[in-house]
Amino acid sequence: MFYVIGLGLCDEKDITLRGLEAIKSASRIYLEAYTSILMVQKERLEAFYGKELIVADRDMVECESDEILKDADKEDVCLLVVGDPFGATTHTDILIRARKLGIPTRVVHNASIMNAVGASGLQLYNFGQTVSLVFFTETWKPDSFYDRIKENVDGGLHTLVLLDIKVKEQSEENLARGRKIYEPPRYMTIPQAVSQLIEIETIRGEGVLDPDKTLAVAMGRVGGLDEQRILAGPLSWLLRAAADQYGPPLHSLVIVGKRVHHLEIEYGEVFAEDLGEAIGVGRSEGREKWRDVAKTEYGVVVD
Ligand SMILES: C[S@@+](CC[C@H](N)C(=O)[O-])C[C@H]1O[C@@H](n2cnc3c(N)ncnc32)[C@H](O)[C@@H]1O
Repeated sequence: MFYVIGLGLCDEKDITLRGLEAIKSASRIYLEAYTSILMVQKERLEAFYGKELIVADRDMVECESDEILKDADKEDVCLLVVGDPFGATTHTDILIRARKLGIPTRVVHNASIMNAVGASGLQLYNFGQTVSLVFFTETWKPDSFYDRIKENVDGGLHTLVLLDIKVKEQSEENLARGRKIYEPPRYMTIPQAVSQLIEIETIRGEGVLDPDKTLAVAMGRVGGLDEQRILAGPLSWLLRAAADQYGPPLHSLVIVGKRVHHLEIEYGEVFAEDLGEAIGVGRSEGREKWRDVAKTEYGVVVD
């Protein structure tokens, strides 16, 4: 059997009992480590699961899937993925390949950023398309996310913005010379994401992401127990907080849609207070700013 097992969002203890049982029975276990990171090292997972893990990078999962699937028709092989196997990055390619090879497959689900974003207090029912934001370079600033966010904004819907992860990237020089030397991993942070959004708003000028009129919720290490960090306010205020105020990566951002309900605004007040404190204007100022923009720009009145 070939298993694809979701590990959840935080540490070794987030695996489900069903997932753990599959791991215990497996002869080979791969850990997919390029689309997300867990908040613990591989060694801690190995100690908890009592099994050795083989790290599977992008090349391996995408180009050498037959190696992973070898003998999975006769024995149990697991591919572990952070979050849920179908959350954001889907692992359908390797499942299709397994099916073509006549290998039985099973997926073990877990929490994903796609549902844990509900920790923002914004209703999952009211989210539109999720978008991904990639690191801009001097010469490459892809802005198609802006049109997707605009479609959500026009429908009054919230937008989950997933931030870029660069793992095992090669510099242009190393790529050109065919040297397999990799840059250190990079994870986009909230301030980088917000400044890229505002940069594109400045260029496009369609008022989709007006920094003073657009409310957003910044989310760091969702599901990460004490490390989880959620701050909320207008984009211009989120930009004022220092990067370390958002805690370590991974980070995600939610753009609040115009159909926001007053209870969603009320739930977010504590995150707005935290932002007020983080930028040094005070908790009540943070809350008042959040309520004020909700009232004037979103037509929401909170008692
Ligand atoms: C390509 S997605 C993979 C999602 C994963 N498969 C899942 O189901 O949650 C990776 C992006 O999701 C977001 N993300 C994942 N886990 C997160 C967390 N615990 N807190 C905040 N953002 C997270 C980040 O923006 C990150 O760059």
